[in-house]
Amino acid sequence: MTGADPDLTGLDLDRVITNPGTEIVICCGSGGVGKTTMSAALAVRAAELGRRTVVLTIDPARRLAQSLGITELDNTPQRVNGIDAGNGGSLDAMMLDMKRTFDDVVLAHASGDKAQQILDNPFYEALSTSFSGTQEYMAMEKLGQLHRQAVAEDRWDLIVVDTPPARSALDFLDAPEHLSRLLDGRFLKLLLAPTRGPLRLMSAGFGIVLSTMNRVLGSQVLTDVQTFAAAFEALFGGFRQRADQTLAQLSGEHTTFLVVSTAERESLREASYFVDRLTEERLPLAGMIVNRLHDTTVALSAQRALAMAEELDQESPEAVALTAHARLAATREREQAVLERFINSHRSRDGRGITMRGVPHQDTDVYDLTALARVGRLLSDGLLASEGVPPGDDVGASSQQ
Ligand SMILES: Nc1ncnc2c1ncn2[C@@H]1O[C@H](COP(=O)(O)OP(=O)(O)O)[C@@H](O)[C@H]1O
Ligand SMILES: [Mg+2]
Repeated sequence: MTGADPDLTGLDLDRVITNPGTEIVICCGSGGVGKTTMSAALAVRAAELGRRTVVLTIDPARRLAQSLGITELDNTPQRVNGIDAGNGGSLDAMMLDMKRTFDDVVLAHASGDKAQQILDNPFYEALSTSFSGTQEYMAMEKLGQLHRQAVAEDRWDLIVVDTPPARSALDFLDAPEHLSRLLDGRFLKLLLAPTRGPLRLMSAGFGIVLSTMNRVLGSQVLTDVQTFAAAFEALFGGFRQRADQTLAQLSGEHTTFLVVSTAERESLREASYFVDRLTEERLPLAGMIVNRLHDTTVALSAQRALAMAEELDQESPEAVALTAHARLAATREREQAVLERFINSHRSRDGRGITMRGVPHQDTDVYDLTALARVGRLLSDGLLASEGVPPGDDVGASSQQ
């Protein structure tokens, strides 16, 4: 890497995931940047490095779920076979079942009759499946459960957490607050007279459910909502307490956050919000993963490659190769420039800057265990180890042969 390029090897992720003090790693960032993929790859890497790891994924792509053996939405971690786990290491994986997690919370907090009353209420059905923020809150809830289990049963050393495909970067952190507001009695009473106002606070899906319920069921719904509100209010204290507890847990020493982004302006802007917010809340930020970076095999600028191509017969293989190189080099140059600007603006804000780890764009989607393990190694060895065999290992391997 030349001196002028931003440092994309500063973040030592092996150290983060093998630090015995790190028990929870949370990957956040805007949608589509590779949060789920990076969570899975980090978890594979941690298992290879000997840690008993569990990864909590949220809406993983189908093929990724298949590779991890978690196509059943059973809401409990399953052992992932077929990875090269290091001494004492293992990997379990699960995907979040939002509704079931919510049901479990209700069952844990309300006595038999009351719990059933809530679970059977059509209003609850809508709340537990389509309220915006429910997924984020339930991810937190599940994380809390896994962590308690990890401690009580000495089952895992490390929990890697993926976060929901947020519409806004802050959703995950704001979820407990959202839910507290929702569960606030006043808010439920507003729902009794659903006008345009409070509906704005809800996802479109929920609004539709509610208005359909009203139309079809008429005043019956009001009674239902009232019953629901009454039963739910009895639980309210418990919910708020749990939300606060989980948030406190996240601020603790054993948790660390990673912000995932691509080197594109839009996702870096979201990443900025995350970095600022985590700093503001004094939540521990380990650094940033910059995913899907493009690189060229030779150091030749886009401009120079195009100039050279122009000297040649446009149909010639050389000209075609130079043009292709120029396209890739231009992408790389744009990514480096955008990153440079991001790094500088953060350095000027807090004087320290953010440590980063670059991950190269892969030619194919990352979903099988081999690809995850490769990306896991790239996360620890940096951008230049593009062949997947880190220079350090190379030496070790050849000296053994
Ligand atoms: N470095 C990479 N190179 C190529 N494809 C990638 C890379 N990282 C992620 N992907 C692919 O991008 C898509 C979105 O990734 P995903 O992890 O689901 O994003 P998110 O969880 O942030 O929405 C997936 O198809 C995944 O395989
Ligand atoms: Mg995802």
